[in-house]
Amino acid sequence: MIMAVKIIVPLLLIVLPFVLASNSDSADTWRCGIFFAGNPGTPPRAKIFILPKKFPADCNAPRVDTYNGTCYEVMRKGLKEWNFENPSRIRKQSGHTIGDDLCGPIPRDIKAPGLEMGFYFAYCGSDWIDTGLRKPERLCCRQRKQVPC
Ligand SMILES: *[C@@H]1O[C@H](CO)[C@@H](O)[C@H](O)[C@H]1NC(C)=O
Repeated sequence: MIMAVKIIVPLLLIVLPFVLASNSDSADTWRCGIFFAGNPGTPPRAKIFILPKKFPADCNAPRVDTYNGTCYEVMRKGLKEWNFENPSRIRKQSGHTIGDDLCGPIPRDIKAPGLEMGFYFAYCGSDWIDTGLRKPERLCCRQRKQVPC
């Protein structure tokens, strides 16, 4: 598990907004991802980034608590290093931030209270399931750039 954390945390920093990934996991694996959150316990609203790593799962005897707990822990650790103010990962040397990357694809302005980011997991072809973890800071956007909420 330590290995997984070491691999995943740097990946978490590569936040590609609305990156294309399979809608969920494929058979016999589970995955973890960042979404614009819905209400607690409900499906997410829009995909932000799915961690590329697929973990093995036994779909005949899924260990849902383990998937949830691992996703929660990995993301909680990664969150500390994931600030909206960090330099853009997709437009380097442009002065853009990760916050701007997230606002870029959103055509309308997002005013306070802003959008909430949440962490979800899916296993064996399931829908995305809420870990309950949220990023404390919310995202507000004006003209496709991030602004304080
Ligand atoms: C996932 O784990 C978190 C943290 O332990 C817990 O609060 C939450 O209820 C769990 N959710 C599910 C779907 O098991």
